[in-house]
Amino acid sequence: MRKRIVSGMRPSGKLHLGHLYGALQNWKRLQDDYECFYFVADWHALTTEYADTSNIKENTLEMVVDWIAAGIDLEKNTIFVQSSVPEHAELNLLLAMMTPISWLERVPSYKEQREALSSKDLSTLGFLNYPLLQTADVLIYKANFVPVGIDQAPHIEFAREVARKFHFIYGNVFPEPQVLLTETAKLPGLDGRKMSKSYNNCIYLADPPEVITEKVRRMFTDPTRIRRTDPGHPDTCPVYFYHKLVSPREFLPQLHNECVTAKIGCTDCKRILAEHLVQVLTPHYRKRRELLANREKIREALALGAEYARSEAKKTMRQVRKAMKI
Ligand code: TRP
Ligand code: SF4
Repeated sequence: MRKRIVSGMRPSGKLHLGHLYGALQNWKRLQDDYECFYFVADWHALTTEYADTSNIKENTLEMVVDWIAAGIDLEKNTIFVQSSVPEHAELNLLLAMMTPISWLERVPSYKEQREALSSKDLSTLGFLNYPLLQTADVLIYKANFVPVGIDQAPHIEFAREVARKFHFIYGNVFPEPQVLLTETAKLPGLDGRKMSKSYNNCIYLADPPEVITEKVRRMFTDPTRIRRTDPGHPDTCPVYFYHKLVSPREFLPQLHNECVTAKIGCTDCKRILAEHLVQVLTPHYRKRRELLANREKIREALALGAEYARSEAKKTMRQVRKAMKI
């Protein structure tokens, strides 16, 4: 039997290049060797967005479309929306009975996020519960591995502790889930800072060719290269970073050399990058448009995914209730 993978993403809407070269490529790599459950964590979105829920449904659809267009295969994986499987909430509740509040308070993201999002009132039970809901997401499918970025690793460590406590009291039910670290160098955004929606410096997978070209034209380059005749430093230039991702490998040494010897100017270098990036993203763009033309089909696929996920979740819940004698 194949080992199980569970991972989720909050519905942030359209995804950007950072997602493609981070989570999505990783998910795609895993889909042939593992039984994968990939879901939209819409309840997790509520922990911070409860005051304005108007975008969650549309963002869910937009995000799933990006998953599929990026090659996350509906046939190979179980793809669904968290809230369509209410058993996650039941397991969350039962685990809450034995989870010390202090364990939740000391998860590093709790304090960090509360401070980072200080404009929102996050003094809620729901927000404190975030890692425990995530624990339920993972344990309910008896996941062996959870592919996440380093920032999420403490949440999986937390899930393991909760599983151990459950086992100590009621006996073994769950495998202890292990982190599969998604290795990604932080993708620079258009301004050289980390690519992030909140910095407004993203290239979206949904961007049409002309938008990509314009964004690349405006991109920050090596700040020490002021005149065309100055030698450049490709290794610290965001434009070169992208070349490494999307340009043919054999082309890179030449470009590197032409930059450090000032043979090529940044305008030309960017024009070439834009061409390569458009080439890479055009199939995604087309697939995405095709998918969005038939939203009903996506909804049906998600319903089908939820049906299977739910049947598996119900099996686990029967074992949990039996272990707890309720
Ligand atoms: N907290 C995760 C994030 O922000 C999303 C998530 C929710 C998740 N439930 C999960 C990831 C279960 C892995 C497994 O990225
Ligand atoms: Fe960056 Fe290219 Fe300019 Fe070199 S030539 S500094 S790699 S944009």
